[in-house]
Amino acid sequence: MLNQDTTIAWKYHEATKHSYWSVRTSTHFLDWENQPLPFKIYPELEAIPLPRELPETGVSTFIALGEKVPSPGPAMASLEVRPTLAQLAHILFYSAGITKKKTYPGGEFFFRAAACAGALYPIEVYLVCADLPDLPAGVYHFSPMDFGLRRLRAGDHRAFLAAAAAHEPALLWAPVIFVYTALSWRSAWKYRARAYRYHFWDCGMILANAMATATAWRLPHKLIVGFQDDAINHLVGVDGERELSLALLALGQTAEPISVSNETWTLPEVKWAVVPLSREEVPYPLIRQMHAASRLQDAAEVRAWRAQPLRRGEPDPQAPLLPLDPIAPSALPEESVESVIRRRASTRRFARKPISLSELSTILDYGTREFACDALDGPLNDLYVNAHAVQPLAPGAYAFHYSQKSLELLKSGDFRRDSRYLCLEQDLGGDASATVFFLADLHTILAHYGNRGYRLAQLEAGIIGGKFYLAAYALRRGATGLTFYDDDVTAFFSPHARGKSAIFVMALGVAGPRPRW
Ligand SMILES: Cc1cc2nc3c(=O)[nH]c(=O)nc-3n(C[C@H](O)[C@H](O)[C@H](O)COP(=O)(O)O)c2cc1C
Repeated sequence: MLNQDTTIAWKYHEATKHSYWSVRTSTHFLDWENQPLPFKIYPELEAIPLPRELPETGVSTFIALGEKVPSPGPAMASLEVRPTLAQLAHILFYSAGITKKKTYPGGEFFFRAAACAGALYPIEVYLVCADLPDLPAGVYHFSPMDFGLRRLRAGDHRAFLAAAAAHEPALLWAPVIFVYTALSWRSAWKYRARAYRYHFWDCGMILANAMATATAWRLPHKLIVGFQDDAINHLVGVDGERELSLALLALGQTAEPISVSNETWTLPEVKWAVVPLSREEVPYPLIRQMHAASRLQDAAEVRAWRAQPLRRGEPDPQAPLLPLDPIAPSALPEESVESVIRRRASTRRFARKPISLSELSTILDYGTREFACDALDGPLNDLYVNAHAVQPLAPGAYAFHYSQKSLELLKSGDFRRDSRYLCLEQDLGGDASATVFFLADLHTILAHYGNRGYRLAQLEAGIIGGKFYLAAYALRRGATGLTFYDDDVTAFFSPHARGKSAIFVMALGVAGPRPRW
């Protein structure tokens, strides 16, 4: 089982680190003539238009982020919830749809509901469903370009999908499953081999919105990351090398589980033509090797892989803990999740103004609430916060304690310059009111989950980051994802972070022009 050979994840991780020198010695340039298309186009298939007059749940963003909705499964059998096409259109729009258009002299650029590194949008969404009130059973591709679905296969293929995920209960009971893939070249064009990490961050951002909007509809849902990659790739018609299956989201609830007795084990290939992304695609062997080595190959391996999710203990604090002080639920802004997602954008300039500890606490609290996932039982990422201007918190570097929802001061001081440097010398990292660094103990994670644990840590970081965006915007604050100098981040937070690996960064603060000093 290749998944257990974690030298491959380590090799990938080491080879794709950013450092002061790697950035300065890179000869890579953006080949604009060979830029990949941001949309997957099936020229032979007619679009089934999705309703553009979308319903609004009106549910507040904090309820959408904070409320627990059960997972699909036998415990919910009395409640049949087959999403309507309008609900699916809503979730697709507010997670992966086009929410903004910018016109510039050379043309138009489309921004989407969820943030995405470099606005390269590598993630594609497919839908596998039973007969729904207004959509026949099938396997569909979602196109944000014309806001439509294209049917790749007719009929109910959920039994095939459930078998590919070792009959995970949510997949037996959900009428709809979203399949998320990455068209790797779209982001490798810019980020080269490091793009594999970005695939999971970008997918996590979309998942954060999808789970929040599903919660707003009170639709049972569950994230599934344990599956036989080859079978899922085959189901949605992707090759697993250029386009990679990353995650599944089970949605809704049926009164009966699907029957698995008459599963069709042999499905013909999906052979629809697809417009090439660009003139030529540059393969990145490190990505292919890493993805192949983190595949699960049969049902037994899937079952064993997810059987006992990792439960990590937290180290005892070495300094008094400062409890978070989140805003009381009754005082939280009530702006709906739809309105916040429509307004969301990555902050391009932070004004170096303070936010309050209550605001930071609220973002950390709602961003780190557990979500249902077949292979997780508690967080994999540890959060370290450089508080630059969080009133009345003393400026300094803090470690976040999940279980006690509190912060531990590691060192005090004004670390704006350090944060800026750590975030690849980007001003955003230093100008934010608080910059949150995600680090993970990859030694423990890979020992437990094999190479696939690497995917999981990156994906979880993207989901938490996506929730930070929504919580920050709901508070009328700004946020942006950032990349970083890997080993310098670990060194900065050591000795506390010794042995951990930098996974992701989110900067939080007040948008606005930067003061000149
Ligand atoms: C995973 C991730 C990494 C990002 N890294 C950076 C970064 O290093 N620097 C930056 O200025 N913006 C970064 N961004 C912000 C993106 O550039 C932004 O999301 C994208 O341009 C789309 O714009 P929007 O978020 O305003 O919709 C990142 C976003 C994500 C999701």
